[in-house]
Amino acid sequence: MKVLITGGCGFVGSNLSIFLKKNKIAKTVHSLDNLSRRGSLMNVERLRKNKIKNFKIDISNNKALLKLPKYNLIVDCCAEAAVETSKKDVDKVIYTNLIGTFNILKKCVRDKSKIIFLSSSRVYSIKKLREIKNKKFLINENFDTKEPKSIYGFCKYSSEQLIKEFSYLYKIKYIINRFGVISGPWQFGKQDQGFVSLWVWKHMNKKKLSYIGFDGKGSQIRDVIHISDVCELIIKQIKKINIINDLTINIGGGKKNSISLKKLTSICQKITLNKIKIFSNKKTSEYDIPYYISDNSKVRKIYKWYPKKNFLNIVEDVYKWMFINKNKLKKYIT
Ligand SMILES: NC(=O)c1ccc[n+]([C@@H]2O[C@H](COP(=O)([O-])OP(=O)(O)OC[C@H]3O[C@@H](n4cnc5c(N)ncnc54)[C@H](O)[C@@H]3O)[C@@H](O)[C@H]2O)c1
Repeated sequence: MKVLITGGCGFVGSNLSIFLKKNKIAKTVHSLDNLSRRGSLMNVERLRKNKIKNFKIDISNNKALLKLPKYNLIVDCCAEAAVETSKKDVDKVIYTNLIGTFNILKKCVRDKSKIIFLSSSRVYSIKKLREIKNKKFLINENFDTKEPKSIYGFCKYSSEQLIKEFSYLYKIKYIINRFGVISGPWQFGKQDQGFVSLWVWKHMNKKKLSYIGFDGKGSQIRDVIHISDVCELIIKQIKKINIINDLTINIGGGKKNSISLKKLTSICQKITLNKIKIFSNKKTSEYDIPYYISDNSKVRKIYKWYPKKNFLNIVEDVYKWMFINKNKLKKYIT
């Protein structure tokens, strides 16, 4: 089997490419990445060592895309992944996250490829998510998607609709994975994306942080899933894609792996043995949500899969990776 991973030099894409190669799931694994994310240069080296070729192409460049070889499967992990970029550079988000999917779909039609799409919990309406009062509530695939969700969320949701239209017309087999927060080694966290990795890095290097939004005390709650659990699930999906397809599912760490920023701070203190100054800023972004925990019932039932790594494993693994690579990482995480 020949597989193309778009965004292959990103956090998810690089880990998945190497996982597929090491587990001999595909004979050929190629990556497409324009290396725009900080840290992708470090990942392109990892790919090279694992004999995975990266095509340095912008996903919005349809002509360049159509010159690429034919693949049996495309796993679309390419995105401008920070929700807040929707406010600062909307063109970039639309061209990468929506036009990019459109281009990939055209390639899938030409080559008769299947597609696994990395969507997001951000397809759900911000207003409805903000109304959740019960902190045990789990968000399933039927949650409201009608109201605004950020331009990032809009692009993910619209990409999902495009995939379904293309599948209906051209019989493309697809799986849409709506992920909650993913974390683990090789995530180059920044203020607006990859908060677990950012929190560990700042504690390790005794730098300052801020709780931003809502009460300004770090009360936001998210469920977090380890990248190795994500890779194991995608392998299951690839193995069964001829019989299980045309599917949209929520995937996340679930209730057991849900955590507030405040709790994350105390875990980071224990693991790094450092205590840092955390400022408070109550100004809440239009795009922030106070709470999100995935309902994994559907994915569990279909694939007999559940996340194996707990939250502590995630933080410990990120810390170990950062500790070993501390000097190199200084260039990429600030
Ligand atoms: N990390 C998470 O918590 C999370 C959660 C839900 C969904 N997702 C989705 O999973 C996918 C992977 O996320 P990630 O965390 O690995 O993000 P990432 O930023 O680490 O990786 C994305 C990669 O895409 C590349 N890229 C960006 N714009 C490009 C363009 N125009 N052309 C070609 N390459 C481009 C970047 O260089 C980067 O290497 C994304 O679609 C993201 O929206 C991630």
